[in-house]
Amino acid sequence: MKVKIELYRDGKSFKVEYDYARREPDEKPMILDVLLQAQATDIPDLAFRYGCRARNCGVCTVDVNGRPRLACRARIREGDQVSAVNTLPPLADLVVRRDGVARQMRGRLASVAQGNDLNQDTPDDYHALTACIECYACLHNCPMHARNIQNDAAASPAKGYLWGNPFSLLKLQMLRMDPLSSEAGREQALEHAKELGLDACRDCKGCKCGVGIDLMGKVVQPMLEAAREQGGAQYPPSHVLLRT
Ligand code: SF4
Ligand code: SF4
Ligand code: FES
Repeated sequence: MKVKIELYRDGKSFKVEYDYARREPDEKPMILDVLLQAQATDIPDLAFRYGCRARNCGVCTVDVNGRPRLACRARIREGDQVSAVNTLPPLADLVVRRDGVARQMRGRLASVAQGNDLNQDTPDDYHALTACIECYACLHNCPMHARNIQNDAAASPAKGYLWGNPFSLLKLQMLRMDPLSSEAGREQALEHAKELGLDACRDCKGCKCGVGIDLMGKVVQPMLEAAREQGGAQYPPSHVLLRT
């Protein structure tokens, strides 16, 4: 089975073709199977990341034909092209720089707690958001994150990206729903979301999560509604329903 792998070396990208030898005649390999075999045979210095191999750690995300996929869980087909995710800066081959997203959350995730009563009920939606594995697949086609790429001053991973993304909104929405957050903490989380560019979500057709979290219904829409309730020119009352 022939696939293309886009390598990134010395600042240049180029494609190589790799012929995967199926281990069983009817094998439908995962992307990671192909990468591991390629590294064990023809491309010993192929750089890529993986960890749990079980959709838990989120570090194996690559693009297949331009769309983000978890390499350990997505199947690959004849003729597919594997490349580094195009939403983050490439480091080597399929490895990208992930720290810009984590750094942008620095100082923004400190909860202003109202106590430590662990017997408080947590809303179901909060539990749904804990399924996030930080794979960053949701950065694909996000107009808010795209502002980082369009603007050099915003695009410094070392300082943390200026503009946010669905993942950063998810983390802030978790703070808003955490029963241990104080009212001030919830308001602060919404302010952080606004600073990170929540206004980009007003006219956006939506984000897609790599593990199926309902980002529009459980993250973006509740935050936009809360911002609209506060009023202000950037968040006028909605007369258009966001697509889910
Ligand atoms: S709805 Fe907001 S967070 Fe989601 S893709 Fe659009 S701009 Fe990004
Ligand atoms: S929200 Fe979904 S796509 Fe985004 S980082 Fe979390 S698991 Fe990945
Ligand atoms: S290797 Fe951990 S999610 Fe793919």
